[in-house]
Amino acid sequence: MPEDRWAVVDRFVGATIAADDDVLRHAVERCEAAGMPSIQVSPPQGKLLALLVGSIGARTVLEFGTLGGYSSIWIGRALPADGSLITLEADPGHAEVARENIAEAGLSDLVDLRVGPALETLPVLESEGAGPFDLVFIDADKVNTPEYFAWSLDRTRPGGLIVADNVVRGGTLAEADSDDPTIEAQRRLHEWLAGEGRISATTIQTVGVKGHDGFTLGLVAG
Ligand code: SAH
Ligand code: DHB
Ligand code: MG
Repeated sequence: MPEDRWAVVDRFVGATIAADDDVLRHAVERCEAAGMPSIQVSPPQGKLLALLVGSIGARTVLEFGTLGGYSSIWIGRALPADGSLITLEADPGHAEVARENIAEAGLSDLVDLRVGPALETLPVLESEGAGPFDLVFIDADKVNTPEYFAWSLDRTRPGGLIVADNVVRGGTLAEADSDDPTIEAQRRLHEWLAGEGRISATTIQTVGVKGHDGFTLGLVAG
């Protein structure tokens, strides 16, 4: 099926069962006006995150990569009123736009946005005793996905979920001889997960408005 059909189907799903709304659309518009990359999850993927949050009754979520807060809003809306979402963003400009979008969604009390490279913020969270988390969504710089995953696995409760976005990268995940560090990182993630008894995971390829990619979903044992 040609790629434009994938996008058409994605838009149909997004216009029916996985619909966004004015707040989410305005969040994307604010990102576009600020010149930010249009790499937020699609509406069907946002809905999947919300369903995963609901399916395990998640109350505490950690997100790597806020961008303009689009996925944060999907996740935040699925949490109970006393839930919490810690979201990590390296770019102060992105974080500023995200704060506005999260405020417009009425989720400022629930969302704790931390600005800085995630690898620098994680020790801070550690010192604060953050977690354990019910669900982690990893969607920041792709080269560090394995590090974020390993840190999260140590701090996600049994029965919790870890989701990593953009692991298939147009199919390049299968290229053993790739010298692209972002692809090498996704391969390393898979090889590590294969031997990690504390979590059971799979990777699902996706097509849609963002082309060919995929995500890894893991269920923490126990
Ligand atoms: N989850 C968002 C999209 C995130 S795009 C959504 O679906 O709406 C990836 C984001 O990760 C970008 O905003 C980028 O600035 C941020 N990022 C890149 N490197 C990072 C790092 N080292 N730590 C935290 N965030 C980072
Ligand atoms: C990129 C990042 C994303 O989070 C995404 O969903 C798509 C692409 C990127 O850095 O290229
Ligand atoms: Mg992504």
